[in-house]
Amino acid sequence: MGRNEVLALLREGEYISGEEISRTLGVSRAAVWKAVRALRAGGVEIDSVPNRGYCLHRSLRLNAALLQTTPWNVIVLKEADSTNNVAKQLGAQGAPDGTVIVTEHQTGGRGRLGRSFASPPGGVYLSVLLRPDAELSELMHLTAMTAVAMRRAIYDCCGFAPDIKWTNDLLWQGKKLCGILTELSCEAESGRLEYAVIGIGVNCNTHTEDLPPEVRPIAASLAEIAGRELDPNELAAAMIRRLRELSEEMRSGRAAWMQEYRSACVTLGKQVLLVRGEEKRPAFALDVDDEGSLIVRYEDGSVGTVNSGEASVRGSEQK
Ligand code: BTN
Repeated sequence: MGRNEVLALLREGEYISGEEISRTLGVSRAAVWKAVRALRAGGVEIDSVPNRGYCLHRSLRLNAALLQTTPWNVIVLKEADSTNNVAKQLGAQGAPDGTVIVTEHQTGGRGRLGRSFASPPGGVYLSVLLRPDAELSELMHLTAMTAVAMRRAIYDCCGFAPDIKWTNDLLWQGKKLCGILTELSCEAESGRLEYAVIGIGVNCNTHTEDLPPEVRPIAASLAEIAGRELDPNELAAAMIRRLRELSEEMRSGRAAWMQEYRSACVTLGKQVLLVRGEEKRPAFALDVDDEGSLIVRYEDGSVGTVNSGEASVRGSEQK
């Protein structure tokens, strides 16, 4: 029995007695106490109350020790300019597949199409470095896969499943909760993929008033919706678990997760504005293809496909 099994039991609920842990894991009380002591020494705060047992202390702070139970290698930073930048640096230095960087505060968060991404304290800003054995063309749908993983992770922690706005936003009642930025590094000569970095920013315990004024009316946080502060470790662990699950099914389960994407995608069946730099073109969103590109019908009746690198989508009422 390792301390991770004890930690997994502690994660399951409120207080659990040493006796119950020893019975469940089939080990002595002394072994349980030793595991608890080792976890505490590793920085996991565990409360103990006579006659009730042990309980994980909800510190509401990311804690590397709590996240090491996940199969990927997780690095928790107190602060970062951008976790995608850190993951890319590590990728260039040869860090392995499944390296995760996570922080609660970014000073230079980056969004899609060269925009900045406001990242005040209280968020969960997470990047994962992947080295998939896949063709570059197969990787275009990584962002769609991540949106489905994030929808599931939020459901796991909060009990509600947000909508997806093509291509990379998760919304609740029209307000943005989460954004995704996928970046790829390829070898110039061969075009071979070196690594992919998937960056996810979630408004977890952030307060809307900490966001820039222009973002406030269109943003929401999980804590505001749930009406309570959330344990960022629980959210980060669910994100990692769901991402890992889907990355293993990237090919084999694609039809199913793409279907989940489509049914959660609130962009479909709506008039939209496709925004490419200064150009804005009205269209009707018909479907999302298996690569994650948006299929649209333009006002002249022609049908086209738009990929996420080309344009962003706004509701037609937003000029
Ligand atoms: C967007 O909405 O345009 C995408 C936002 C992506 C933000 C995440 S936060 C973690 C990672 N680090 C970054 O600098 N960006 C991504």
